[in-house]
Amino acid sequence: MAEFKLPANSRVVEGKVFQAPQGAKNVRRFKVYRWEPDSGSNPRMDVYEVDLDTCGPMVLDALIKIKNEIDSTLTFRRSCREGICGSCAMNIDGTNTLACTKAIEDVKAREVAIYPLPHMPVVKDLVPDLTHFYAQLASVKPWMQTQTPPPPDKERLQSREDRAQLDGLYECILCACCSTACPSYWWNGDRYLGPAVLLQAYRWIADSRDEATGERLDALEDPFKLYRCHTIMNCANTCPKGLNPGKAIAEIKRLLVMRR
Ligand code: SF4
Ligand code: F3S
Ligand code: FES
Repeated sequence: MAEFKLPANSRVVEGKVFQAPQGAKNVRRFKVYRWEPDSGSNPRMDVYEVDLDTCGPMVLDALIKIKNEIDSTLTFRRSCREGICGSCAMNIDGTNTLACTKAIEDVKAREVAIYPLPHMPVVKDLVPDLTHFYAQLASVKPWMQTQTPPPPDKERLQSREDRAQLDGLYECILCACCSTACPSYWWNGDRYLGPAVLLQAYRWIADSRDEATGERLDALEDPFKLYRCHTIMNCANTCPKGLNPGKAIAEIKRLLVMRR
């Protein structure tokens, strides 16, 4: 796992305050985590006052406005701005979520506090280093594995019932909100696969067309990869797509018991 590169005295210090332009009437304060690991400086919290009368409704709109009009050095990731790509995942008002689907007006605190996803190495500001997370995803082979050839001139078909087994799984956008909200993943993320990756693993175990179910279960039967889930359920509480990775993990455990 990539190392945390926080300096020894890594407390987060107060940063700059960027005041709203004179005459702005509908001002909201955004307190944003700023850190450049290679700078040698401590992380800091910069405060940006944003005029909501000239800003879109979502937290991502405010971040884009800050970057475009106030401080171009602020770094964050985004792409689709409609809850599909997963790249704008961050911790807003104490909860891991997507900046593009989080309405500013839903944050009741006076200041909108924004941090990167917790317990991950930071590339810069709000951008976590997901290298290890993606390597873990690759380790569960998230693609269909088959030995038998497909029917001639046809797709591999599923019944409606078999297809329905993938509901609640295929919608995952791999934003990592769940894994980075899981205390087991915080402490054992080097070996515990975490809820997002285990949900993906189950997505292929549950697929009627996949022919590697036994191998997939063999690979997960491990005290760390799977059994570090202690049913804490932060994962389901935080998932911005309303999914339940804890339930998928319980299904994997159930299948392992059933085949004994
Ligand atoms: Fe994100 Fe939800 Fe998928 Fe976890 S299960 S990666 S929180 S979409
Ligand atoms: Fe973690 Fe969710 Fe299990 S929060 S411990 S993965 S139920
Ligand atoms: Fe794609 Fe937010 S920008 S999910």
